[in-house]
Amino acid sequence: MRKSSPVYREGNMIHIFKYKTISRILSDHQNFSSQFRDLLGEEMAAMLNEKTTPSILLLDPPLHTTLRSLVGSAFTPRSIELFEPRIRELARMLVHAIVEKENSDVVSDLSYQLPIRVISEMLGVPESDSEIFRDWSDKLATSLGRGPDIETQYDMADYFYKKIDRNSNGNNLISRLSTVEMDGRKLSDKEIAGFAILLLVAGNETTTNLITNAILSLYDHPEIYDDMRKTPSIIPGVVEETLRYRSPVQSTRRYSKIDTEIGGEEILKNDILALYLGSANRDEEVFEDGESFNPYRKEKRHMAFGQGIHFCLGAPLARLEARIALEEFSKAVPGFEIEKPSPDDRIDSDIMYGFRKLNLK
Ligand code: HEM
Repeated sequence: MRKSSPVYREGNMIHIFKYKTISRILSDHQNFSSQFRDLLGEEMAAMLNEKTTPSILLLDPPLHTTLRSLVGSAFTPRSIELFEPRIRELARMLVHAIVEKENSDVVSDLSYQLPIRVISEMLGVPESDSEIFRDWSDKLATSLGRGPDIETQYDMADYFYKKIDRNSNGNNLISRLSTVEMDGRKLSDKEIAGFAILLLVAGNETTTNLITNAILSLYDHPEIYDDMRKTPSIIPGVVEETLRYRSPVQSTRRYSKIDTEIGGEEILKNDILALYLGSANRDEEVFEDGESFNPYRKEKRHMAFGQGIHFCLGAPLARLEARIALEEFSKAVPGFEIEKPSPDDRIDSDIMYGFRKLNLK
C-alpha cells in the first residue's frame, strides 16, 4: 500500500501509509485532532462524559497540556527508574518459573504478567484484582477502532472512584493523582478515573506485545540472541528494533479540522485519517532495508510511540520493562525453540499487533 496507494480514500476515511506524511499530520495538532468526542452524537458523548472525562489521548490543548503536565512527572525516565529493582525482581521470578516448567507460554507466563503486575502496583490496586483487569483490558483493546465500550468504561470508572482518597499521602499513582495540584487546580474524580483507565488500556496489551514480539524476532534470529547473551548492552537496540519492525500499535487516528490536501488527495473537514504507524516504520525512504530485523541499524527514529504532543507517556516504562524482561530471559535461557504462531494466534485487533500465545518447546 505504501508504494501503490500511499494515501487513499474509503468513504470519509483516508488511509495513510508513508512516514513523512504521517509525521506531518501528527506534528500538526491544530489542524488534525484526536478529540473524537467532538464528532460523536450528543447522546453518545453525554453517556461517555457521565463517568469519565476523555483520556488525554483524546483531548486537544489546552486541556491536554494541563492534564499531561499534572501526570507527566510520574512518568519521566527518572521517576520510572525507581521501579527498576521491583520490575527486575518480578521479571526474574517469572523467568525462573518458565525455566522450571516443562511447557510454558511466553505470553501468559511472562509478557502478560509483567506489565499488569507493574501497573497494578504503580496504581496501588491489589494483585488479587489482576484477573478483572485482564478482562477489562482485553475488552477495551478489542473495542479499539470499533466504537467505545461504554459498559466496561462504567465498570472501570466505578472501581477507580472507590480508590480515590483526597487525603492520602501514599506513593502510588492513584494517591498522587488524587492529591496533585497545579496552579490551584486538582484533578476531578472523572479525570482520575479516565486517566487510570487509559493507563490500563494503553500500557498493558502494548507492552505485553512488545515483549512477545521481541522474543519471536529473536527466535527468528538466533545469531542476534547469541550476541545479546554475550553483550547485554545491545538489548536496548533489540527493543527499539522490535518496536519498529513489529510495532505493537499498528495505527492511530486523527480527524481533519480543515479542508486541505494530503499526498494529492483532497481532504474535507471531519474526514477521519487512519495513520499506519507500522507501515511508516518500514518506509524505505527512512529505514534502509526496512523489511529486515536489524538491531544494529543507525536510524532509530521509529514512530512506534507516535509523535508530537501525544507521544507515548509510558514509553520510558515500556522500554524499561522490555529491556529487563529480555535481560532476565537471556540470562536464564541459553537457547530456545518455539512453536511458530499461526495467523490464527494473532490477537483480534485492527490496531494492536501481537500474539495470544507463544509456546516454548
Ligand atoms: C500514547 C504506543 C506503552 C501510556 C501512545 C501513542 C502510541 C503509544 C502510538 C500515541 C497515540 C496517538 O498519538 O494517537 C505505545 C506502545 C507501548 C506503550 C507501543 C508499549 C510498547 C505505554 C505504557 C503506558 C502508556 C506502558 C503507561 C503506563 C500512554 C499514554 C498516552 C500514550 C498516557 C497518551 C499520551 C498523550 O495523549 O499525551 N502510546 N504505548 N503507553 N501512551 Fe503509550
